[in-house]
Amino acid sequence: MSLKKKITVRDFYKLKNNGQKICALTAYDAPTAKLAESAGVHLLLVGDSLGMTVLGYKNTLPVTLEESLHHCRAVARGVVNSFIVGDMPFMTYHISREQALENAAKYLQSAGVDAVKLEGGKKMAPTVDALVDAGVPVLGHIGLLPQKVLTSGGYRIAGKTEIEAERLIEDALAIQNAGAFAVVLEGIPADLAGIITDTIDIPTIGIGAGPLCSGQIQVVNDILGMFTDFVPKHAKKYADIGLTIKKAFSDYVTDVQSEHFPGKEHSF
Ligand code: KIV
Repeated sequence: MSLKKKITVRDFYKLKNNGQKICALTAYDAPTAKLAESAGVHLLLVGDSLGMTVLGYKNTLPVTLEESLHHCRAVARGVVNSFIVGDMPFMTYHISREQALENAAKYLQSAGVDAVKLEGGKKMAPTVDALVDAGVPVLGHIGLLPQKVLTSGGYRIAGKTEIEAERLIEDALAIQNAGAFAVVLEGIPADLAGIITDTIDIPTIGIGAGPLCSGQIQVVNDILGMFTDFVPKHAKKYADIGLTIKKAFSDYVTDVQSEHFPGKEHSF
């Protein structure tokens, strides 16, 4: 299952064209990234979901550029062949094209990533175009946009009406035409995700977008059962690591309090 060589943007096209699914996960630290790579995960996204999964924020908005870069560096130290994407946080690419270029450069020059991701469709296309023109590979992200949680009044499935669906197809085409190497489709009806995947040439990577995308991405904490507050409908729990950790901690507390730890074998 392990990756035999460094994944590049070209491999994502090849996977789509060969009908093979792209496997992507979020990662925020070196050891988890290393395990994901050893399992054959092609793409590791240092998502701004970092805010909730690791940093204890309520949503992704407070995540700073420095926090994101810090975790990208950790992930980059953990892997050799997986393709790493840094997720540009809220307001680090919205103010001007120059701001987007300057901040994207930090991901490539000092954080060891292979590409950046930014949220937005048609309106973000000129920024994507400027980044790609400068040599920055970009992963697009359309549909449910967590960085817009306040303006949309919550995390709502996108593309449910005909008008919204048409707008999303236009968004996907605009992001493709701006030069993105792939696009994340988040929280959209499965049929619409299939139509978008067939309409555009670049691969689609779905999260809550059904099985017809070119690949899937999940938040690592969700699939490991680490994020106990809320498990989204789109996530499948492959393990219950949260419960395992809690039990280990309770056993430790019990052992220390009952003086069963440390034993002779742990002492010098
Ligand atoms: O930040 C993140 O984890 C993401 C994924 C949901 C695609 O953007």
